[in-house]
Amino acid sequence: MSDDAPLVEARGLRTTFRVRRGMFGAEATLRAVDGVSLSIRAGETLGLVGESGCGKSTLGRTVLRLLDPSDGSIAFEGRDITKLSQSALRPVRRRMQMIFQDPYASLNPRMRVGEIVAEALEIHGIGGAGRERADRVEALLQRVGLRADQASRYPHEFSGGQRQRVGIARAIAVEPRFIVADEPISALDVSIQAQIVNLLKDLQEELGLTYLFVAHDLKIVEYLSHRVAVMYLGRVVEQAPAAGLYGEPLHPYTRALLSAVPVPDPARPRRRLVLSGDVPSPLDPPSGCTFHPRCPMAKKGVCDAESPALRELRPGHVVACHLVD
Ligand SMILES: Nc1ncnc2c1ncn2[C@@H]1O[C@H](COP(=O)(O)OP(=O)(O)OP(=O)(O)O)[C@@H](O)[C@H]1O
Ligand code: SF4
Ligand SMILES: [Mg+2]
Repeated sequence: MSDDAPLVEARGLRTTFRVRRGMFGAEATLRAVDGVSLSIRAGETLGLVGESGCGKSTLGRTVLRLLDPSDGSIAFEGRDITKLSQSALRPVRRRMQMIFQDPYASLNPRMRVGEIVAEALEIHGIGGAGRERADRVEALLQRVGLRADQASRYPHEFSGGQRQRVGIARAIAVEPRFIVADEPISALDVSIQAQIVNLLKDLQEELGLTYLFVAHDLKIVEYLSHRVAVMYLGRVVEQAPAAGLYGEPLHPYTRALLSAVPVPDPARPRRRLVLSGDVPSPLDPPSGCTFHPRCPMAKKGVCDAESPALRELRPGHVVACHLVD
């Protein structure tokens, strides 16, 4: 694989769920991810933002093949993994890991944290055995800012930030290349968030990690991401280098999201755009551009009629909107 070939590449991914409309309603297909293409280069962080329910977690899980796409393809390290069986996926899984939002829910409360990290090694048959493995676990705990002697403690004895450190130790234990971090800090105290974000950043530099970083907080995404993708109702509506997206957001939805963020920088004044209404149900997406019922720029007969394709309006900056240019 050449250096600039993407490490992760998704093409036209679609992930659907069969759900019931209401308690006794008929079954229907919910398109949680509806035709997403993205690529992430080695060592890069792609930030993924969008309101609750727009499909960020589903996309992250699909890219890792924790969910099966109904359409489209996923390549990892240049190899198509869309159709690999679970057993064929095993060696690939080691190189793709996930860090979860709620570190407490994702750690077995009956296991000591040393055992939790060791289990990750065991599953993949790495890290030796006995003393060798224990040393490795202790080194991992230290690497994420915990003490070696904390290996014998249980998750409930740790603070939220420390538990997330355990989750990170478990993820990096198997020496992955790619990590999906799904809102890894949103359950944490604001005072702790920066520490975890900086840890992720340090680990990226040290280990050459590649991240898909999902978050609500646009400031943190800007700090951590090289490029950012904005999702709305299962689709990417804008994707750009971080500087381009934050400096010149083009899609009305991105502008609205960003205008809700307080910016102390007078060089980048923003008119406040308030997003009206809720995200529509992906079970009944609006016609045309699915953002049109909430879009301050929407034009009747255009935006409600046809779904806008992604167009590259600046180098590496793509936008799905009929009206911006
Ligand atoms: N297992 C499931 N079964 C049915 N519907 C699901 C399932 N998982 C997610 N969905 C639906 O798919 C859509 C996308 O959900 P997803 O969790 O991916 O959004 P999200 O962007 O991660 O939201 P949040 O910011 O709240 O985490 C939502 O409408 C959600 O209700
Ligand atoms: S296509 Fe129309 S409705 Fe959609 S974002 Fe652009 S202006 Fe708004
Ligand atoms: Mg989510």
